[in-house]
Amino acid sequence: MENATLTTTEFAEEVRRGLSSSPKYLQSKYLYDQKGSEIFEAIMRMDEYYLTDCELEIFSEQKNTICRDFISDAGEFEIIELGAGDGLKTKILLKALLHQGMDFRYIPIDISHQAIMQLQQQLASELPQLKIEGLTGDYFHLISGLNGSKPKIALFLGSNIGNFTYGQSVNFLQQVRKVLNEGDKLLIGFDLKKDPEIILKAYNDPQGLTAAFNLNLLTRINEELEADFNTANFVHKEKYDQNSGAAKSFLVSKKEQAVRLEKLDMSISFAENETIFVEISQKYDEQMISEHATEAGFRIIKNYYDHRKWFVNSLWGL
Ligand code: AVI
Repeated sequence: MENATLTTTEFAEEVRRGLSSSPKYLQSKYLYDQKGSEIFEAIMRMDEYYLTDCELEIFSEQKNTICRDFISDAGEFEIIELGAGDGLKTKILLKALLHQGMDFRYIPIDISHQAIMQLQQQLASELPQLKIEGLTGDYFHLISGLNGSKPKIALFLGSNIGNFTYGQSVNFLQQVRKVLNEGDKLLIGFDLKKDPEIILKAYNDPQGLTAAFNLNLLTRINEELEADFNTANFVHKEKYDQNSGAAKSFLVSKKEQAVRLEKLDMSISFAENETIFVEISQKYDEQMISEHATEAGFRIIKNYYDHRKWFVNSLWGL
């Protein structure tokens, strides 16, 4: 197993940059330390977080068609999953592919070492015939090392794409495009624009799991950068703009306060109600999806929707 987790120095420098900016921000990829990954798994199980159920429905109902659409010739191929997490949804496709007697290797990549270790162990016992090679790290770094001769199906599920800004997502897809060859495919999950109430509930749940997920980033900074954030002095706030489709999460300072980050040798002051922008969860319409495909050099092969058309898994080719 390759281990290319982000270094503390990168984390420290990116926290320094984000908290020195105006307005302040923190990068959402840092939400996923061990505790953050556990909270995210709990978020995915919440009723309000409809995204998981939509994608599960698409895979459960349409797995045989999707798997057939993956394959263009009968030889061995690789399924590379970017941001695999607990692999719950992917397992449905993997089982269907094994059932159809397909010869393939599954290469899950995740920023969380813990998530990949658990996924490998779990799949080894549940699907012993599965060939699996997990990689840990930032997929922006690992993706360039993936070029090989076998046909590839890249998976980027769960609307993970939505956590990039428009420019970042096009750039990311262009990088994916560069490591794919003629005949390779990309299956990508997009959360669709819908009733703003439904979206806000998914990111502002009454149990407070999303708030805990965001506040955990301050705890991580306390632990790793010897800071003294008092998480009780910040609240989580979600905003959704239905025109652009951008859902954004912020941590808001409840009062005027100063925070010391010992490892960075810096102190940061916050005004009352000052925000730290933490995450974008972009929602899409069909036009935005086809613009992304075109700008990144892909063509849309097929779209698979859930019955409410809240979510789409879009299969792209070169
Ligand atoms: C991982 N990603 C697709 C999630 C999302 O919906 O943007 C992260 C998340 N943040 C809060 N809840 C879930």
